[in-house]
Amino acid sequence: MLYAFELSGEHAVLPVKEVYACLSMEGLEYREHASFDQCLIVDIEGEDVDGKLRFIAGRLAMSHHILKVVGICEVLTDPIIGMCDSSDLSAHLSEGQTYVVRAKRAKHHGDVNREFIEGRLGGSIYRKGFRANLKNPDVTFRFIMTNKAVLGSVVATVDRGDYEHRAPHKKPFFYPGVLMPRVARALVNISQVRSEDVLFDPFSGTAGILVEGGLIGAHVIGIEVRRKISHGAKMNLDEYDADYSLLVADACRVPLRDSCVDAIVTDPPYGRSAAIRAESLHHLYSDSFAEMYRVLKTGKLAVVVSEMKVVEFGERAGFSVVDVFTQKVHKSLTRTFTVLHKD
Ligand SMILES: C[S@@+](CC[C@H](N)C(=O)[O-])C[C@H]1O[C@@H](n2cnc3c(N)ncnc32)[C@H](O)[C@@H]1O
Repeated sequence: MLYAFELSGEHAVLPVKEVYACLSMEGLEYREHASFDQCLIVDIEGEDVDGKLRFIAGRLAMSHHILKVVGICEVLTDPIIGMCDSSDLSAHLSEGQTYVVRAKRAKHHGDVNREFIEGRLGGSIYRKGFRANLKNPDVTFRFIMTNKAVLGSVVATVDRGDYEHRAPHKKPFFYPGVLMPRVARALVNISQVRSEDVLFDPFSGTAGILVEGGLIGAHVIGIEVRRKISHGAKMNLDEYDADYSLLVADACRVPLRDSCVDAIVTDPPYGRSAAIRAESLHHLYSDSFAEMYRVLKTGKLAVVVSEMKVVEFGERAGFSVVDVFTQKVHKSLTRTFTVLHKD
């Protein structure tokens, strides 16, 4: 069955990586069908796919909606109406259920008027014997104009407003240089950490990553070398009722036993500010990667955000590299995301 993930446009690859990590974590079999601007179409098989997608929507940060696909065609009025007219909607609407159609244009795609197509698609579904209800429908159909036209019924919606409420400056303790909560959550998802697992951040700072880990139900452990920042991390974790342990310590000498954490997500200092506590940035990365490898359980993932390339540090520590991708933050800062596996 084809499903569409309506992706946020805030990053080119992070939303896609996040979706695939969550599907893998839920044990779903999937294959990419098509990747359009802000819309990823995935063929998904498995038991209770809709139920698992609803669970995944509770974790995702960089998608808006998950749709069960009715059809895909060119972004032209006649093919769109023809596709809807000829579609069997029994997997989407049951007898007696009401519906609404909402249209969205991704970027500049298609010149079909949104209200016009909502009306025409609504009419097509009406002629199949269903009643529309614009205010309180049982089923919402979404029509996405991207590189192609995609029509689907909503399986789940991501509550993105919560991420705004957790913006760094709205938390009890703020210190500059923090990842935005949506980025932090996407990285937590990419680490495939599950609720009840242990998530570790050896450079926890104000706990931006750990708060997101705590909210998905993980026990989170953070190390921070500066006492004042660690105290701020505690305030932030308390605000969100996280199950956490914080240590004021050095990420190069981690006071944890071998193979005791299920996932690592971390954002080490980039060396731009004075916030490095080590002989050099090279020593800091070299020694902390060795420690990350030591404390991570075999078969698990570490996700590292950095400004420089860290593949060599990862490999030297013993990891194999699963993925590397980048995000341009502004003119002089490009972040690299590196996903490492302990084989
Ligand atoms: C880029 S910030 C992390 C930001 C963090 N993600 C947050 O939400 O605030 C890196 C942090 O690493 C800390 N740090 C620097 N050297 C360290 C070391 N040797 N061991 C542990 N933490 C260290 C810094 O004090 C800083 O708070």
